Amino acid sequence: MYYDPSTLSNINEIQTNHIDLNLKVDFEHKILDGSVKLSIITITDNVNKVILDTKSLNIKSVSQDGRQLKFHLNNDIDCFGATGLHIELDKPLATGTKFELEIAYNTTIQGTAIQWLEPSQTVGKKHPYLFTQCQEIHARSLLPCQDTPCFKLTYSANIQVSNPLRALMSAISVGEEEVDDGKSKLYKFEQKVKIPSYLIALAVGNLAGKEIGPRSTVWTEPEVLQDAAWEFVDTEKFIALGEKLLTPYEWKKYDLLVLPASFPFGGMENPCLTFITPALIAGDRSLVDVVAHEVSHSWTGNLVTAANWEHFWLNEGWTMFLERKIIGRLYGEKESDFHAIIGWSELEEDVKLFGEDSPLTALQPVLKGVDPDDAFSRVSYEKGFNFLYHIQQVVGGPEFFEPYMKAHVEEFAGKSIVTDDWKKFLYSFMEKKFGSVKKDALDKIDWNGWLHSPGMPPLKNEFDQTLSEECNKLAERWNLARNNENFEEFSPANIEKFTTLQKMAFLDRLLEFPPFSHSSIAAMDKAYNFTTVRNVEICFRWQKVCLLAEYEPMFPHVVKFLTQQGRTKYVRPIYRMLNNTKKGSDLAKKTFTENKSFYHPIAATMIERDIFRESSN
Ligand code: BES
Ligand code: ZN
Repeated sequence: MYYDPSTLSNINEIQTNHIDLNLKVDFEHKILDGSVKLSIITITDNVNKVILDTKSLNIKSVSQDGRQLKFHLNNDIDCFGATGLHIELDKPLATGTKFELEIAYNTTIQGTAIQWLEPSQTVGKKHPYLFTQCQEIHARSLLPCQDTPCFKLTYSANIQVSNPLRALMSAISVGEEEVDDGKSKLYKFEQKVKIPSYLIALAVGNLAGKEIGPRSTVWTEPEVLQDAAWEFVDTEKFIALGEKLLTPYEWKKYDLLVLPASFPFGGMENPCLTFITPALIAGDRSLVDVVAHEVSHSWTGNLVTAANWEHFWLNEGWTMFLERKIIGRLYGEKESDFHAIIGWSELEEDVKLFGEDSPLTALQPVLKGVDPDDAFSRVSYEKGFNFLYHIQQVVGGPEFFEPYMKAHVEEFAGKSIVTDDWKKFLYSFMEKKFGSVKKDALDKIDWNGWLHSPGMPPLKNEFDQTLSEECNKLAERWNLARNNENFEEFSPANIEKFTTLQKMAFLDRLLEFPPFSHSSIAAMDKAYNFTTVRNVEICFRWQKVCLLAEYEPMFPHVVKFLTQQGRTKYVRPIYRMLNNTKKGSDLAKKTFTENKSFYHPIAATMIERDIFRESSN
């Protein structure tokens, strides 16, 4: 039995093995128009219907081998704006029967997978742009499909785009063809490695590429290409380390697409073509850990995939763990431990936000009736990371755990798994390879606490404090100094030698104290000039310190930050905090209302819920 609380499809009757997409991009009407062919196999007897997930799609016709089939859209309850597309087969099919359905359709502007950008929202300001974001359950808004990660499929696509724009997909490019009297091009793609539906991705814009490694090209609007190529030169190092730790890289290409500023995430691991926010171009390569993270997903997430969103931690917790292994190999263990310490603060913050009793803070939450977008937090990432780190300690350290990591990927590559599959294999590997002592060690783990209890993890791992100590000390000095309002001891020299991560940790520590006085904040800004820093991670934390103190001189900078980039990790907390200040609440709402179209639809929905729901009750 397959289980996925976030799909309406009849996943225990049919399985899609291949998708062939044929779409024309219409920027004028902001629609994709065309058809999709689904290659389906029945997995039980007597199948007389196909139910597919759709959301805000206009379905025109459904046919099987040229014969029109009856269909209707059913507004199933509790599925967050999604609709089941019910298709009646003309005769019941026995198990193992293969057939093809062709569906003519177009997307609509109400959809949540695609953001359509006006030329003014791009760097070049001349051409429109579109990009998709399907994780977790938005693929159904791009095409009718079985929108569940419990199945994997290959796909091919032909995308027609008018010149001079270019289309890119999460697949290998297999050619382009002039059409429409040379006015348009047909871009052809093939993804031959099986993937879950949420990894289908498309972007169209004025795009240029530059090679940055033997299997990597970075794509952006031409205006930022050079800077992007410089920032991400280490990409190949990350891939090579992934291969060393795990298995050969299976996806052939690892390209990067740097999106316009409204891209709602730091990165998205679309296969062959990771999407990243332009905010990572810091000019000093200080934020490229996001690339190490997305590279790691090539194994955990994209090869070994969580079978439904209740097991999301198998994607993200594992990937954080690999990301930090790569960082450890490249920059040393002190550095990767420091990342883990910063991650722990982010986890604390989210647990506090959700409430430590919230069932959504369990590592393996129950998602029946819950929109996965609402359940999203650092929990899968950081509790998941700490869980694996703890298991690594319990079994005797990296010497025992690293061979297991590789075996885990070999065992489950190409499959979709749940937490139980993962745990069974962990036990069997450890016992077979290293004997029953390891089994006894594993037995002592508080499995239930880690997987099912809400709140912070049952135990706190110990990480090397060398790099965070100085940051904490400096923060404590500021906390003392505010009592006598004497700030003369502070100067730029305090943080001169700090890395970006150390500045982040310093600001994180400040946030744990009660709000600072306005004079402390002014003094700190005089000493360190945080307000003018461009690095988004520092800017984000500094604005939080200021907003907690209701420091109004910062408000114009806050508005600028909120409207210059749309990464939810930053804009949601900043909107919430601005909204919670006495004098900034109207400003938060006004800023959002005026800039709503700047944000990706998924981000806009979440921000709207955050700032309007709170004030209405
Ligand atoms: N797969 C995620 C992004 C995502 C998660 C999109 C859930 C939609 C729903 C991606 O790999 C990710 O984790 N991105 C992080 C960066 C990372 C370094 C932690 C992000 O965008 O913040
Ligand atoms: Zn991730």
